[in-house]
Amino acid sequence: MNKLTQYIKTPEQIEKMRVAGRLAAKVLEMIAPYVIKNVTTEELDQLCHNYIVNELNAIPACLGYRGFPKSICTSINHVVCHGIPKDKKLKNGDIVNIDVTVIKDGYHGDTSQMFMVGNVLPVHQKLCTVAQQALYKGIKMVKPGISLRAIGREIEQFAKSHHMSSVRDFCGHGIGSEFHENHFQVLHYDDPNAEHDILLPGLTFTIEPMINLGKHHVRILSDNWTAVTKDKSYSAQYEHTLLVTKTGVEILTLRANEEINL
Ligand code: MF3
Ligand code: CO
Ligand code: CO
Repeated sequence: MNKLTQYIKTPEQIEKMRVAGRLAAKVLEMIAPYVIKNVTTEELDQLCHNYIVNELNAIPACLGYRGFPKSICTSINHVVCHGIPKDKKLKNGDIVNIDVTVIKDGYHGDTSQMFMVGNVLPVHQKLCTVAQQALYKGIKMVKPGISLRAIGREIEQFAKSHHMSSVRDFCGHGIGSEFHENHFQVLHYDDPNAEHDILLPGLTFTIEPMINLGKHHVRILSDNWTAVTKDKSYSAQYEHTLLVTKTGVEILTLRANEEINL
């Protein structure tokens, strides 16, 4: 029995997912020129918040989600995910993930990317590239009939082939009127339990691999949100919201300047 069947969207719901996805992508397009040395992550949060609310007439899904205090997540260097924007300046050489989720007309669009501040060490540039390619490898596999296990396996193997690791404690997720669909988890490693989660046309979900230069283990800071690598190695993440079509995949959060050869 394929438990993903219950999450298939109607054509009307899919159209709303397209709109929400496009708006989430627009937030990353908007914020890109502001991600520079000496800006604080709090300032980036404010810019995104105001843009989402005032320009996009949408809702920042993260704000107040399970008590999260800000409208975006900003995860710098050895922070894996869920970094809380604060009054601390970005510095030369930082790598930072900005993760944006918007709600428009009741539906969610969820996407993130890495930004590099000034001169970034080649090894950290490489980390970001591998994280993006890991996402693209996963996206390229998406079509009806493929299992979530195969996607996770591909991503984990790709990270390993670059002597990096794929985080196991966080995953992608089904998404729609709910931010995280309950029984629709997209693990970024080989999980035998995902063997029977078979993709079907009309499903919408995220792939969002977190790749570490060191080991995959994470720990949560005392703010109860910020996830960091246990070994303090740098970490990078990219995320897209996807639609399974009859023949393959549609990337709902594709940015204007982003090119993927599927
Ligand atoms: N956007 C994250 C995801 O990709 C979730 C962030 S939840 C928050 O699933 F509360 F930290 F914002
Ligand atoms: Co997500
Ligand atoms: Co996200």
